[in-house]
Amino acid sequence: MTDTAMTEVLAGEPNHHGYRTFQLGEFAFERDEYFAYVRWPTGTHTMSVDAFLRAAQRDVAWNFFYGTVNFDNVVGTVNHYGNVDLFAGSFNEAYRKAELDHLENFPHEQILGTFRSMLDDWTNEGFDPFAAPEETRTAWGDKSGNNTEAITRRRVTASRMVGVPGDEPIRTDETHPVNRMFADVDQSQPEIYAEPGFEDQVCAFNLFGYLSRSDVTWNPSIVSVCKDSLYCPTTEEYILPIIHGNDRVEWFVQLSDQIEWEVADKVTGKLRARVTMKAGDVAAMPADIRHQGYSPKRSMLLVWENGSAELPELIATGKAPTYPVDI
Ligand code: PHB
Ligand code: FE
Repeated sequence: MTDTAMTEVLAGEPNHHGYRTFQLGEFAFERDEYFAYVRWPTGTHTMSVDAFLRAAQRDVAWNFFYGTVNFDNVVGTVNHYGNVDLFAGSFNEAYRKAELDHLENFPHEQILGTFRSMLDDWTNEGFDPFAAPEETRTAWGDKSGNNTEAITRRRVTASRMVGVPGDEPIRTDETHPVNRMFADVDQSQPEIYAEPGFEDQVCAFNLFGYLSRSDVTWNPSIVSVCKDSLYCPTTEEYILPIIHGNDRVEWFVQLSDQIEWEVADKVTGKLRARVTMKAGDVAAMPADIRHQGYSPKRSMLLVWENGSAELPELIATGKAPTYPVDI
């Protein structure tokens, strides 16, 4: 048993591959050279460990995000904003029918502490769960070193807007070199001519240039905030490591290149749509779906979130619709 600063983490001695086994309620997590195993009283599940770590990384970095974070079609978490469900098979019709599903609720800090420790213990030197597969070494093998610096990266969360005095800085060559796939992106900054006396209040920055310098994939950062309206652009390459089950409507604006989205029912997982978004396309993802994106080339996506704390309840009780507009 080890302690983190926040809460008690139940971790066993390292197994013969060097990895600790973690316990959360009646769930147990174990890894070996290639796989992560999740066990619960009525079942067991195996995931490729690279996919598991990429998913766990998002869940931890996003504080369990909005609604459901499915690691795959069996295991995942539901954020209740203060406490979190950990489930296996609960949103999978076959597991439900066979009564093999299992769900437990944990205080936010307990599950976050355990996932953080597990991610740190299971991530080897050189493997970066945030990076595109082409830009990282592998997750495989017996335990060797760690990559704490990569997995504890701080997500950009502007309180007003990137570039505004006192807020997140605009990226530079020194801290964020342009990604290999965005070498052609214009790096010039807007010219600002403020009225005298308003120099500190009028700001602008080159969002494409900013995104071209992102060293992570599938990790929306908050670049601007206006009340509950959050602009969360991100750079995408390969596969969104989680299948997100929305608890509110999200708008997607495809800023460059192309992403294919697989959209399924949030509860059953039954396929609903396949959406190909090309540069300039806009889509609203409803509140009753799960979705996963595939980006063959690094692309830029703007995720527009409504951060209102009231939305999940309004939608769950039918007081607000699951879709944004009647056409
Ligand atoms: C989403 O679930 O809406 C989502 C998550 C991460 C991304 C993009 C979209 O990078
Ligand atoms: Fe989503």
